[in-house]
Amino acid sequence: MANTLPPYVAPEIMDVLYTQDQIAERVRAIGKQISEEYKGQSIVLIGVLKGAAIFLADLARAITLDNTFDFVAVSSYGRARVSSGAVKLIKDIDNPIEGKHVIIVEDILDTGLTLNYLRDLMLAHKPASLKIATCLDKAERRLVPIHADYVCFEIPDRFVIGYGMDYAERYRGVQDIRIMPEDPPGH
Ligand code: IMP
Repeated sequence: MANTLPPYVAPEIMDVLYTQDQIAERVRAIGKQISEEYKGQSIVLIGVLKGAAIFLADLARAITLDNTFDFVAVSSYGRARVSSGAVKLIKDIDNPIEGKHVIIVEDILDTGLTLNYLRDLMLAHKPASLKIATCLDKAERRLVPIHADYVCFEIPDRFVIGYGMDYAERYRGVQDIRIMPEDPPGH
C-alpha cells in the first residue's frame, strides 16, 4: 500500500467547494428537520465507515432527539464508472435494529451501489423505518435508482476530499470540502 501512495497535494492549493460554515449551516438544518420529523421518537444513526464519521458526529449533535449510533464498513470495489457492483460487508451493526427508526448516514452518494446494498441489508433486519442521510449527492453519477432523504449538497461530478472524505485515506481531517485538482485514476 505504502509504495502505491500517490504524491501528496497540499489541500491549501485545492479549490474550496463548501466552507466549514456552509457545511455547519446545512448540517444544522438537516438535524432540525430530522428532529421535527421524528418528534417524540428514538432513532438509530448508522454511519458508513470511514467517510461518514465526521458528518455523523456533527449530525448527531444537531439532532435533539434520543439517538444512538452504530457503524458499518463495506469493502471498496474501486471507483470505476462501470463497476461490478460487488459491495462486501466488512463490519456489521453491533446492535439489533428491528422495530427501530433507522437513518443510514453516508458521506457521498455516488453511483449508489454502496447504499443500494446497505439499504437492502438493513431492511432485512426489519426496522420500523429506514431513511438515508448523505452529506453529498453526485446525482449525475448514479448507476442504480436510489435517492437520499436528507442531502446537505448536490454536487457536480468532481472528486472531493475533506470533512471525512478521503483520497487514498488522506485529507479526512480537512475542514472544508475541497476539489481534487485532477480526478484520481479510475474515477
Ligand atoms: P457509491 O457506491 O458509488 O455511491 O460510492 C460511494 C462511496 O464512494 C462514498 O461513500 C465514498 O467513500 C466514495 N466516493 C465517491 N466519490 C467520492 C469523492 O469524490 N471523494 C471521496 N470519496 C468518494
